[in-house]
Amino acid sequence: MDNSVLVLGVGPEQGLGVALCKKFAEEGYKVFGCGRSKENMEALKAITTSNGSIEGLVADVTSPEDVKEIFKVLDKSDTLLKSVIYNAGNNNAKPFLEMDLDFFQDLWDVCAKGAFLVSQEAIPRLLKSGGSLLFTGATASIRSRPPFTAFAAAKSAERSLAQGLSKEFGPQGIHVAHVIVDGIIDGDKVNLRFPDFANSKGEDGKLDIDSIAENFLMLHKQKKSTWSFEIDLRPWSENW
Ligand SMILES: NC(=O)c1ccc[n+]([C@@H]2O[C@H](COP(=O)([O-])OP(=O)(O)OC[C@H]3O[C@@H](n4cnc5c(N)ncnc54)[C@H](OP(=O)(O)O)[C@@H]3O)[C@@H](O)[C@H]2O)c1
Repeated sequence: MDNSVLVLGVGPEQGLGVALCKKFAEEGYKVFGCGRSKENMEALKAITTSNGSIEGLVADVTSPEDVKEIFKVLDKSDTLLKSVIYNAGNNNAKPFLEMDLDFFQDLWDVCAKGAFLVSQEAIPRLLKSGGSLLFTGATASIRSRPPFTAFAAAKSAERSLAQGLSKEFGPQGIHVAHVIVDGIIDGDKVNLRFPDFANSKGEDGKLDIDSIAENFLMLHKQKKSTWSFEIDLRPWSENW
């Protein structure tokens, strides 16, 4: 039976979600990537790796039905689920008095509700395989400042969920860990939307997606005697 990995929140090729899929496939896993965009999932399926394989599933992680469906696909795949990575994110900024409830709720749904729904499906399966449950955090996971107050409320809720799960299920054999990405990822999300800002960061001033993915793999492979709950990653020149 092959070992599998599920990555939720997969977007364009130049993004962390795809880099995570590639990294774990190269390690020999059958990887299932999941994102909202049909186009991105078609592009994901077309990626070939020297080892393992990558599947693309279209789903919205804030929908309980979609999340259940993803795990049904995994159950039918006849693989042993060894890692689930919750990477979905939707950073958006607004001054507090300009945001309405929908704005706040949308951020919270993607970061916190989706993480809850996925964890409830993932944990019973990971209890059988003794695998890992990894979350992608951000600077906002531990620090709130305007105009990112709503995003920080959502990302810190996700981190708290992860920490509670780590304490409850670590002693039952699941390695739950949280990665704080403290800086700008060198991918399409920022490079295309804010090119001047992205260029202003200079050489190695943004987080390289393959290097972030390497750290997720390192966490997944950590020995049981030396588990990290959390690591933070930032470029050398980041002011923090
Ligand atoms: N980009 C940065 O500079 C940065 C910095 C610090 C932390 N982070 C964190 O890093 C992670 C990855 O961010 P990224 O910017 O590099 O993006 P990415 O890995 O390229 O893609 C993440 C994907 O999550 C998807 N997503 C959002 N809501 C979803 C939903 N309801 N269901 C399924 N998928 C959904 C988005 O899909 P759509 O394409 O459909 O929107 C997006 O493409 C996020 O957790 C983010 O908070 C990013």
